[in-house]
Amino acid sequence: MNIKDILQTMDYGNAPESPDLALEWLAQHKNKMSHFINGDWHSGKNHFASNNPASGERLAQVSQADKNTVNQAVKAAEKALPGWQALSGHARSEYLYAIARLIQKNSRLFAVLETLDNGKPIRESRDIDVPLAIRHFYHHAGWAQLLDTEFPDHEAIGVVGQIIPWNFPLLMLAWKIAPALATGNTIVIKPAEFTSLTALLFAEICQQAGLPKGVLNVVTGDGSTGQHIVEHPDIKKIAFTGSTAVGRWIRQATAGSGKKLSLELGGKSAFIVCADADLDAAVEGVVDAIWFNQGQVCCAGSRLLVQEAVAERFHKKLISRMHKLRIGDPLDKSIDMGAIIDPRQQQKIASLVQAGVDAGACLNQSTAELPSSGCFYPPTLLTDVSPSDQVVQDEIFGPVLVSMTFRTPSEAVALANNSRYGLAASIWSENINMAMHLAPLVQAGIVWINCTNMMDAAAGFGGVKESGFGREGGKEGLYEYLTLKINTKTQKDKDKAANKQAAKSIEPVQGMDKTPKMYIGGKQVRPDGGYSYAIHNSKGQIITHAGLGNRKDVRNAVEAAATSHSWSHMNAYQRQQVMYFMAENLSYRKAEFATRLESFGHSKKQAETEVESSIQRLSYYAAWCDKFDGQIHSVPMRGVVMAMHEPIGVIAIQCPDEAPLLSFISLLAPAIAMGNRVVMTASEAFPLSALDFYQVLNTSDVPAGTVNIISGNRLELTKPLAGHMNVDAIWAFGSDAQWVEHESATNLKRSWTQNSHRDWLNINQGQGQEFLRRATQVKNIWTPYGE
Ligand code: NAI
Ligand code: MG
Repeated sequence: MNIKDILQTMDYGNAPESPDLALEWLAQHKNKMSHFINGDWHSGKNHFASNNPASGERLAQVSQADKNTVNQAVKAAEKALPGWQALSGHARSEYLYAIARLIQKNSRLFAVLETLDNGKPIRESRDIDVPLAIRHFYHHAGWAQLLDTEFPDHEAIGVVGQIIPWNFPLLMLAWKIAPALATGNTIVIKPAEFTSLTALLFAEICQQAGLPKGVLNVVTGDGSTGQHIVEHPDIKKIAFTGSTAVGRWIRQATAGSGKKLSLELGGKSAFIVCADADLDAAVEGVVDAIWFNQGQVCCAGSRLLVQEAVAERFHKKLISRMHKLRIGDPLDKSIDMGAIIDPRQQQKIASLVQAGVDAGACLNQSTAELPSSGCFYPPTLLTDVSPSDQVVQDEIFGPVLVSMTFRTPSEAVALANNSRYGLAASIWSENINMAMHLAPLVQAGIVWINCTNMMDAAAGFGGVKESGFGREGGKEGLYEYLTLKINTKTQKDKDKAANKQAAKSIEPVQGMDKTPKMYIGGKQVRPDGGYSYAIHNSKGQIITHAGLGNRKDVRNAVEAAATSHSWSHMNAYQRQQVMYFMAENLSYRKAEFATRLESFGHSKKQAETEVESSIQRLSYYAAWCDKFDGQIHSVPMRGVVMAMHEPIGVIAIQCPDEAPLLSFISLLAPAIAMGNRVVMTASEAFPLSALDFYQVLNTSDVPAGTVNIISGNRLELTKPLAGHMNVDAIWAFGSDAQWVEHESATNLKRSWTQNSHRDWLNINQGQGQEFLRRATQVKNIWTPYGE
């Protein structure tokens, strides 16, 4: 083709990037890769192939780590931990900085190797994956420097295990490693089996940067290697990105182990186009949302919602744009879409699309010629689908968009939220009021207004609902790698005794009339089963009875909390007024509440101190209502990213036995201060202070259903709460962490369990921002400026 011909057709020519640099690097390793443990290379006994999905050719043999290898890596990380933690923040920041510089120097090698191994267009690995990975290390070099002054009450967790997926191999590695190193943890990381190569190149970079031996260990292998990491007793935290199924398994496998967990899982993110959107810009947005990285993006805008008035026009523009996308050799700088990671994924995409078509969807697919070899799938749009269709509900993880229409903004919100996922959402409207109205209403960890798939190290990334929990990036992301320095273990034995006594006391008694009732949906109610149980004082004498709640009571309480929205719709100032009122009303009843505590065996002075502290604690969290501010993140773009603290929804709270009034208030108050509704399970041994509290709620203008209080056997009540689909978070302050966390996997609810106990009177243990962070999740709203 000569220049004149090209000017005629305006076709792109070929612009191939050379693979040589990466192939040479692989040849230096004899195309046989080892694990990186304790600063050295260890070849595995068994190997598997890493292929180029665009050609099917084998790039290298990669070592498969078994349990032994994982043990070795964990040992190395443990040994390196004290030295790494003893370094100053400044010294650690120098390593992160050096790593950033070295990736920058080798960026072409990284980009080419990534494209060869993963099949993504070189344009993306070169311009997005690698620069963002570099940015992550620079940003976190800064956090290392600032750690001592900005997080004085926190410390590193220890050895962390990290498991990453194949869609952004280097970038996901950077998201995991940079914050872990900055905060002083040591690491065992496993790349995905399809894409291990850039992680090994990265390990080499760390060697060059002089990172102390054992601080970073890279083991390669499949899911079984991941499993050994998850199950290793000396690993204190697991950070995982991947499928919801594996995330759920990890939640169950680590239940009760005390391991901290962050999960970044699947998504089915809504892409909302309002009638007043800039439609051409929104079409380009869709291209980035679903055809970037072949749609193998956890936050891909894979559910298009278009306002009916413009739907036809929009679809037409979109289909015409879709046909212009160029699919081909990922190393060609002028292609838009590369290869699908593996034939199995391609098969999964094809069969889901077929199922959609069989269910009645209208198939629009690019007719562009696909390369004859390699693993490719054309850009696809499915219209005429309904909200319950499998293609609308399930993550396809390929270049497949489903489209539905809506009439009103509230219908758009309802459709957007009709998903078990909640990773991201994109909203397109030229009316900023409308966009800012919708942003808080959609259930998602990230909202992009008139943009999509924007990411930066300074802004947290992560989801709500079954998209997982925890954030990566931003200040919010650092907490995932830190733990509070407080020592809560001292009270453990004391409380064990109390629990024992409580367990003995569960003997159902039928039809006791003066039994204090439970409190559900703003009403005092008798337990469904009609049973009560004896409450003893500290001398073992029966003082009264309390309602013995069952599953049905749990269901009623959750239903009341889930359907009562008025508390969450109140603004922070209004909630604050109500909470001050609660404090005031408790102080009117000081004497009554103190007497109740005395009846359990508190001395008069102890009882008065506990009531006084409870009043103060209510005021403390009332004060926080309008002060737990979010942040504006400074990302490198013209625009703002608003990190907002949002309530989680319905929180089930299991109260401990110690300080039965104060612990109840200390858990209730932060949860409702942030706008959540709660189901409180009163202390099993001493439930009366909690049950008495309905009087304060009734007289303080707390909307019905905001606070529900049930009593009974802790196990009987907490088990259905932990498994309930309408409970969004569970806080369990008892000895049941193992099964609470296990059951919480049903809908991946956020769980906060504590087997060791707190001194609730001590303000360093009994209150603080830790509670507010547990009661909220961060939503990052991206809003670019300019026309
Ligand atoms: P996967 O969840 O199995 O793989 C992700 C990582 O987890 C890999 O490193 C893998 O080796 C590891 N892994 C697998 N089983 C494990 C176990 N039992 N314990 C510990 N680690 C384990 O995802 P897969 O099978 O590659 O893809 C299947 C689907 O998952 C995709 O179609 C997509 O829907 C979703 N996915 C989502 C990703 C995201 O970014 N949210 C990334 C990759 C996949
Ligand atoms: Mg590969």
